[in-house]
Parts: sequence; C-alpha cells; structure tokens
Amino acid sequence: MCGIVGYIGKKDCVRFLVDGLKRVEYRGYDSAGIFVYREKDKRSTLVKNVGKIAELEKSIDSSVVGNIGIAHTRWATHGEPNHDNSHPHVSNNGSIYLVHNGIIENYTSLKKKLEKHGFSFYSETDTEILVNLIQLHYTGDIEKAVKEALLEVKGTYGIGVFSLNEPDKLIAARLGSPLLIGIGKNENYFASDPASVVKKTAEVVYMQDREIAVITKESVVHKTLDDEVLKKNIETIAFELSDIEKSGYDHFMLKEIFEQPKTITDSMRGRLLLEEGTTKLGGLSEHPEIYRALINAEKIYIVACGTSWHSALIGEYMLEEYAKIPVEVEYASEFRYRDPIITPKTVVIAISQSGETADTLAAIKEAKRKGAVVIGICNVVGSTISKETDAGVYLHAGPEIGVASTKAFTSQVIVLALITIDIARRKNLSFRQGYKMVKELKILPSLAESILENSNTIKEIAKKFSSARNFLYLGRGYNFPVALEGALKLKEISYIHAEGYPAAEMKHGPIALIDENMPVIFIAIKDTIYDKVVTNIKEVKARNGVVISIASYGDDEIDKISDYVIKIPDTTNLLSPVLTVIPLQLLAYYIAVEKRFNVDMPRNLAKSVTVE
Ligand code: AGP
Repeated sequence: MCGIVGYIGKKDCVRFLVDGLKRVEYRGYDSAGIFVYREKDKRSTLVKNVGKIAELEKSIDSSVVGNIGIAHTRWATHGEPNHDNSHPHVSNNGSIYLVHNGIIENYTSLKKKLEKHGFSFYSETDTEILVNLIQLHYTGDIEKAVKEALLEVKGTYGIGVFSLNEPDKLIAARLGSPLLIGIGKNENYFASDPASVVKKTAEVVYMQDREIAVITKESVVHKTLDDEVLKKNIETIAFELSDIEKSGYDHFMLKEIFEQPKTITDSMRGRLLLEEGTTKLGGLSEHPEIYRALINAEKIYIVACGTSWHSALIGEYMLEEYAKIPVEVEYASEFRYRDPIITPKTVVIAISQSGETADTLAAIKEAKRKGAVVIGICNVVGSTISKETDAGVYLHAGPEIGVASTKAFTSQVIVLALITIDIARRKNLSFRQGYKMVKELKILPSLAESILENSNTIKEIAKKFSSARNFLYLGRGYNFPVALEGALKLKEISYIHAEGYPAAEMKHGPIALIDENMPVIFIAIKDTIYDKVVTNIKEVKARNGVVISIASYGDDEIDKISDYVIKIPDTTNLLSPVLTVIPLQLLAYYIAVEKRFNVDMPRNLAKSVTVE
C-alpha cells in the first residue's frame, strides 16, 4: 500500500527520490518523507509532511541534499496520518533510518521487549518498533542487525535501511511486500515498484520473500536471511516511461479507459488461432501438466478481490457454459479463512491486476497448502502472485495507475474468454462456434473504440446525475457482474452510494428504494434475456424510477421505456461485458470529475492492497 524508494550513488538524489515517490503515489498518499545523507560532509536530513507528495516537496529546500537516501509515501495502517507517524523512522539513538511497506503483526510484544530495554517511542507505528529492534541488535554490523531483527518479526515487510555508522551501504529486505533492486552504473536503487526507477534503469532484480540485499554504489549482494549468497537474474522492465505518464489526459483513469481498444488487443496478441477456431495461451501450454489439470478439473475455485472478483464472476459464467467445469467464485479474503474443499481434481485460479493483493496471495498459499494446482491471471509482470502460482497468464494491459481499475478488468475478461475457448474447443465446442468467437474477439477493439467515440453523450448524462445520492445498477447473466463493477466504480471515485444487483432480484427487496430520486442503470443489450430485462425496466418505471439504459444499437423500443439511453454495439454473449462496462466506467469518471474529486487518488483507497 505504501511506496518506498532508495538511492546510493555519487549524485544528489533528492529529485530522484521525490520523482520516484510520485510514480508510486497511487499506492498510498496520506503522508510522505525522505531521508538523505551527504557523504562529503556527513550531513543528514530528514523531511516529512502530511498529505500528498506535493506537500512534502514544499518542505524540501536547497538545504536538503545527499547522495544516499531513502523515501516513503504512506497509506496509514498503524496510527493516523501525521508528521510523527510518517516514514522514514529513526531509532532511539538517531543512527538508523528505516522505510517500511507492510505490517509488523507482533509489534505489541516487540514493543514491550524494547521498553524493557529502555526504548521509548514518538509514533504509533509498527515501523518505529522495527527500527529500534534493529538498533537493539546492532553491534557494528547493520546487515547482521537487520537479519537478526527480521527473524523476530511476524508480518510483512519491504524495507530500506540506512545506518549513519555504515554510510557506504543500504540494506533492503522483503517478506510479502514487493521490492526490487534497480541496477545502475556506479549507483544502485531499490523500490517497491519498477515505475520508480524506470527513468534511470530498465535493469532490475526482483527480490523474493526472506531475501536481503546489501546495496553499495558499485555492487548488490543478495542473500537469504540465513546468510546464503544468492545468484539472481537481472530482468528488464517490461514497460516504458510513456506508459506511466498521463500523455495529455486529465487523469490516469481516463487515459486507461481510452487505452482499452489497445489493451484489449494486447491481451489477445499472438493468442488467437482463427484458422483452428480456437486460442492458445503460452503461459498454460508451456506447462502441460498444470494445463491438463485445469482442462480435466472437476471443480475450479476462482479467488480474487474487488474488480478482479467481478471479472471472476464473468469467468464462472463462461467456464460453466462453454468449458463445462463447475466453478465457484470466492472472495480471497473469505477463502483463506474458510475450509474450502480441495480434492485432487480441484484447480484454483487467482486473478489480480497488481499481483500483490495480500488476501489473494494468502488464498493462493492456503490452496497450495491443501494441494491444489494454482493458476494466476495477473497484469504486473514479475509480481509476487505471478511467481507464487504454478502457471499463469499475463494480461499485458500495461501499468494501471488509476486506483479505480478499468483496463485491467476488460483484459481479465478477455483472458478468461481465451482460456474458456481453448478448453471448450478441446471438449465439445464446435469449430464453427469457436471460429465465431475468435472472429468476435478480433473486432472487439474497434467496437470498444466506437463506444469511446460516444463519450460526450455519457458526459452529458453524468452532469445530470452528479448530485444523486444513490444509484442502482442492474444486469442479468454475463452482465450481472458488470452491474456490480459499475456500482463499485461509482462508489470508489464519486463517493455516491451505489449497489449492483441481478435485475430480477430487484423485486425481492431493492424495489422498495425506487422513487423519482433513484437513478437506475440497466444493462439491457439484445441478448437471450433481453425481454426479461425489459420487464424489469417497466417495473422500475411503474414506480417513477429514472432509467438509464445501456442498450444495443438499433434497439428503438428501449428508447420508449428509458429516460436516457447509451447505445453500444453488440457482440457475442461471453464478450459483452468488455463493451457494457465501458459506458459505466466513463459515467463514474465524469460524475467524479463533475463533483471535483481527485479521480486518480480517491480518499481512503490505495492501488494495491498489500495488507489484510
Ligand atoms: C478496483 O477499482 C479496486 N480499486 C480494487 O477493488 C481492486 O480491484 C482490488 O483491490 C483487487 O486488486 P488486484 O486486482 O490488484 O488484486
């Protein structure tokens, strides 16, 4: 949830650290801080501020200089966002500085232990406990002290440590929170996200759990916490600087919504076999045993959170209808603490944009503990979930910076469709049906483009409804999860209460809410249950509800029973969510902009939820 960045080299690093934090500000933005050390005059400076990084920047003047530094942007877990609780934290004797992403779960008992040794604390954070635990273990070797302290810690961490007594090195370590080392020339970096270092280097080493790195200007030594030296692979960051910039859009979210024709294409690239009426996913076919387990599974659990959970629900509809495998979709946070029944023929699919979501990661571990084959669907290359799963498929949607997930959702639906088609074709889906689906996939980007061209209509509707207090989103079949996703988007960025429901379920309760002040959004495209949805619309109109319909081009009937209509092109049933969700993303976006909210950094949220 937090973002950390570090630098050791010969140049002044203040600008790099602040820019590096800005690149990960979407991960947490309630306070930020920077510590820098200048070797030539042993000058050290700590600056922290509450609020966004722009606030921190205001406190940084020309006196803040250094060629070694660590920095942090926070999403509060222990203690409110204030100056004292902000990172970097410093040990009691003022010699050790620490930035930390994660949670130290046993911090209460560690605090008692430290108190017995005479330590006192200025903040409410678990991180301050850790920095003092390192001081307690310090006997002249910071690397050893960090290792010993970490062996006492329960919880998760991605940390960067600096000691005034050994200013020629930084120590980085990880357990459960992402961390990588950036390799430069006579300078090296650490960061929780490649976006922080990509401007300086494309060469990175991804750290794994229980690893520590000793970073100097000239070298990086990777070890386990048990002191075994590791030989690590240097990898190349898979995106470019332009991918993480707004490129003229007002917000990352808008850019990412408009990128969808391209990201949908990228998710399918090299994966469509039109001539054979099927698809092919390298990440699965290269692991024949794992893939066989999926094809022959008697039961699939899909675990995920938030938006990824919504795409999972669509995956359930697809896999059951076409691949004929029973599927259960679980919130990862529930799955991890229940006792799900895992038989030798159960396969678990974990879906995560970031690949770092703590609950999803824990669900994967639980599934593996119980012997399940686990397959990942992730966007972030090299992420923890992509490494923890037995095999997987990347979305290739490019970095998603907007906290409200958009392009990852459509790419997840695409990848689930690709998996479904391949499995179904190996079972009883005919060439003709497969061919038709692959053809529809091919034209999907241009259909998405045509919806985006119509964004002004949606903007106008948004203006009319920006002061509504509640919204109801209704859909059926493949578009019931889209109703949930539309409602989530609106809640996240406009803070308007919204609920998604299966349209027919409305009469079992939510219908009581309907009056002239309640906008009801219907996904009413011309599919097999269109007539049923029309009946539901009439039920709302009969109670004076205001109906906004997402409907198919050429459907004039719907105009007569709706107050507002957004027309979109048709596609095959299992792909329709890719198109129906786009107007809902735009509606949420324009309503939030109308209300003047910070769309990319909605209150209380963080992009990747690496805490429980
Ligand atoms: C979506 O807009 C969210 N901000 C959130 O629900 C997100 O989808 C969820 O936290 C899961 O994240 P993941 O896909 O990175 O695992």
